[in-house]
Amino acid sequence: MIEHESRFLKACRGEEVDCTPVWFMRQAGRYMKEYRKLREKYTLLEICSRPEVAKEVTLQPIRRFDVDAAIVFADILLPLKSMGVDFDFTKGEGPVIHQPIRSPEDVKRLHVGDPKVDLRCVMETLGLVRSELDPKTALIGFAGAPFTVVSYIIEGGYSRNFLHTKRLMYTHPETWQRLMETASEVMAQYLTAQIDAGAQAIQLFDSWVGCLEPEDYRRYVLPYSQKIFARLKPYSVPLIHFGTGTATLLELMKEAGGTVMGVDWRISLKETWRRLGSNTPIQGNLDPVALLAPRGHLEEKVDQVLEQAGGRSGHIFNLGHGILPQTPLESVEAVVQWVHAKSKR
Ligand code: CP3
Repeated sequence: MIEHESRFLKACRGEEVDCTPVWFMRQAGRYMKEYRKLREKYTLLEICSRPEVAKEVTLQPIRRFDVDAAIVFADILLPLKSMGVDFDFTKGEGPVIHQPIRSPEDVKRLHVGDPKVDLRCVMETLGLVRSELDPKTALIGFAGAPFTVVSYIIEGGYSRNFLHTKRLMYTHPETWQRLMETASEVMAQYLTAQIDAGAQAIQLFDSWVGCLEPEDYRRYVLPYSQKIFARLKPYSVPLIHFGTGTATLLELMKEAGGTVMGVDWRISLKETWRRLGSNTPIQGNLDPVALLAPRGHLEEKVDQVLEQAGGRSGHIFNLGHGILPQTPLESVEAVVQWVHAKSKR
């Protein structure tokens, strides 16, 4: 079976591996010149909607580096199509939601479409990528977690302090509930369709949930993320639950679900295992900025992460957040080699 040949999938299950698997969040993107070249021809959304092109972009980092997993090229905002929310990516500013949802009146515009149909391009990309990937390279599908996606719908784009999001959550709890229910239903359908299309592991990105205090997480977020994980559980694929700045939320996030927890560099791996139990597989947690540091410093940081993991089976090496556009390819290449060589069992 394919599963038994991928050290990424083995590590996600806490099984013995020959060395620590490694991949990078946002491993396809602007730091690669072959990606920038394609971007001269296509917008981000055009790439995502053309399976042949999205397949190429997904495979770009696989061809260049010896990473252990591919992540399907898409964006966490694509499912907004299935929720009746219009959006775009503008140059330099990132995502823009033209009519943010901020009131009980606005929420009436929401609906639950059919992600299998609305996002068929992503399922097709997964199929194309899987048929070209070596069995030793795992294929990861993903979606944004309800909080992170809903925060974009409410804020209208990137936010520093999530003022509109928290205000709506506190002022109109029933509107919040409706948004979160819609998002969790769409993401559950989208992710099960991705597994059916060939995704061998799933990552749920709750990138911005670290802005919440634990009690608010428990009340306003946990039930919805939990619903998604519960729907995915019967598929028995590894489920990575990722967030940044989540040091105070880890136990609650684990309670919400996921079989692997993804953490950033603000918490040490040792502390994460102490809190979550040593048999919880963990993914992380090099600071993406370390890739921009001089070689000696980068190597020291990689060593620190490996030392914290202490050669245990349930560790997947990754960054604590996505690769930055300024990242030198040589640094990425070096990290992959170091991780594999230094963690040889
Ligand atoms: O990891 C991968 O290689 C797969 C591709 C992927 C993209 N977005 C493509 C993309 C993934 C996994 C995402 C997830 C995503 N998208 C998240 C969660 C992860 C995280 O970083 O926190 C979020 C919050 C988004 C929303 C989003 N998309 C933002 C905020 C931006 C603009 C910021 C930026 O980096 O410019 C995007 C655009 C986007 N999505 C790019 C890529 C490669 C930028 C590249 C481009 O414009 O060509």
